Amino acid sequence: MAVDDLGVMTSTGIAGLRPFWPSDYSGLIVRHLMRHPGLCRGRHVLDLGTGSGVLAGTALQLGATDVVATDLDPDALHLAEDRLARIAPEARVQLGQGAMWDAVESDLRFDLVLANLPNFPAEQLQSGSRAAFWSVGGEDGRKVLDPFLAGLPKRLRQGGSAVFTQNRCVGLRMTLDRLAEAGCGARVVETALVPVGPDKLAALSRISHEPEGLIEMAGFVFLEVVLVVVESEGPERRSISGREKTA
Ligand SMILES: C[S@@+](CC[C@H](N)C(=O)[O-])C[C@H]1O[C@@H](n2cnc3c(N)ncnc32)[C@H](O)[C@@H]1O
Repeated sequence: MAVDDLGVMTSTGIAGLRPFWPSDYSGLIVRHLMRHPGLCRGRHVLDLGTGSGVLAGTALQLGATDVVATDLDPDALHLAEDRLARIAPEARVQLGQGAMWDAVESDLRFDLVLANLPNFPAEQLQSGSRAAFWSVGGEDGRKVLDPFLAGLPKRLRQGGSAVFTQNRCVGLRMTLDRLAEAGCGARVVETALVPVGPDKLAALSRISHEPEGLIEMAGFVFLEVVLVVVESEGPERRSISGREKTA
């Protein structure tokens, strides 16, 4: 392992595999967890679509007792496993390969679910490359997001939370309504603008559920990304700061 002065792991220790680098969107989740460490401390956490392992690793570093990390991509899981073992050798880490909830044992429920799943509205992007399943969310951007939302409520423990990102243009209202119908409280706690580079711009679908989430400024295009915090219903419900609420 190469660790530089900032504590960055620059190699993986796994021959033939280049490290995955965290998505820009994951940074919003990392910052939220750092501001509210009570969400992770002593908690049972799921990172769905772990990729680089950054969200599972953050949860462990902030005191999660055990983490389940899943992904479609076996290379991502090999590398995430290696990273998580170095961050918290004593922690209980379980990995699951497969699509969405199929990769999570059916009886598992979590205090905290983290997800930064593909929801870029495009049919395909650099076919054959990692980008195809890293970012692409289908024509309306909801191909992966909708199954995530459908399965989420029953995977949260009473008082549990989820923190995830999505592009506003793929339908933030739709997302919040679906969660409300399932009995979950959900709100946007942060937003950011992410520039869309030339490759993605060429692939961007014309469908936009919320056009105000697609911003043109100074000759560039930006997507507005939102950070959504979900709270399950229940008497032991915690506030989004991670502190216990008194009844
Ligand atoms: C935008 S990347 C972000 C990953 C991670 N949060 C990070 O920043 O490194 C999305 C991840 O979801 C995974 N993924 C895509 N579709 C999936 C699915 N249906 N089920 C599980 N994982 C999926 C991809 O392989 C990729 O690792």
